[in-house]
Amino acid sequence: MKSAEIRKAFLDFFKQKGHTIVKSDNLVPQKDPSLLFTTAGMVQFKPLWIGAPLEYSRAVSIQKCLRAGGKGSDLENVGKTLRHHTFFEMLGNFSFGDYFKKEAIEFAWEFLIHVLKIDKEPLWVSVYKNDDEAYDIWHKVIGLPKGRIVRLGDKDNFWGPAGDAGACGPSSEIYIDLGPKKGCGRPDCSVGCDCERYLEFWNIVFPQFDQQKDGTRLALERRGIDTGMGLERLSFIMQDVNNNYETDLFKPIISAIQKISNVKYSTANKPAFHVIADHIRALT
Ligand code: GLY
Repeated sequence: MKSAEIRKAFLDFFKQKGHTIVKSDNLVPQKDPSLLFTTAGMVQFKPLWIGAPLEYSRAVSIQKCLRAGGKGSDLENVGKTLRHHTFFEMLGNFSFGDYFKKEAIEFAWEFLIHVLKIDKEPLWVSVYKNDDEAYDIWHKVIGLPKGRIVRLGDKDNFWGPAGDAGACGPSSEIYIDLGPKKGCGRPDCSVGCDCERYLEFWNIVFPQFDQQKDGTRLALERRGIDTGMGLERLSFIMQDVNNNYETDLFKPIISAIQKISNVKYSTANKPAFHVIADHIRALT
């Protein structure tokens, strides 16, 4: 499935579930001085969880994001891994005081299994360490075996706020097991390992706190849902290629670099090609 078809399928699916399609916001956020760049789909919606007037309570977007400095930066990982980028497109669905964990997990599963027809066998999920509610939804409602649900802590399964204040909460992430050949081979390699085996591709956040600048967390005026799925990672999964840089989002850029530099893309110079491709795309 081409990346353009994935974008359309995502918007169509959530529109049909009652979400308003909202355009990608500017890459430089206009209303959040604590952020130099838009780092997530939720940035443009931050006021809606803390009580701003609502035109809709469900939204879907494909947000252009840049993580190239400061908190949550992926800059140093580009070229070292096959999955990190500075610029990427984030597919996201959002609820502002509307649906919560059960519907969000059901929507995600329905989209992956019934719309995209991804095989469910290699899929794993993580939940926040004490989030029994999300655990039970995955196990009892979705039917995922206990052996493929992992409990992780703050580093992996608590997201936000973007910038220095605002909506944040525990999350549940969806991973695909790419097989032992992609892994580090350590006996304890599992979901949450930094190697390339378990690819995290969809983060379903359950915002329920409004973090203040001093770090205290108050209950959100409107708890809800904030999800983020990288189009580049999903394209990799859907296109039967070896990594994000072989998808239709990057192939033309890699070809152009070969042509201009007169250097062939090879195993030895892949990291350099990936850095150039990523940075050119981000700058453009
Ligand atoms: N806001 C969710 C994410 O960036 O993963």
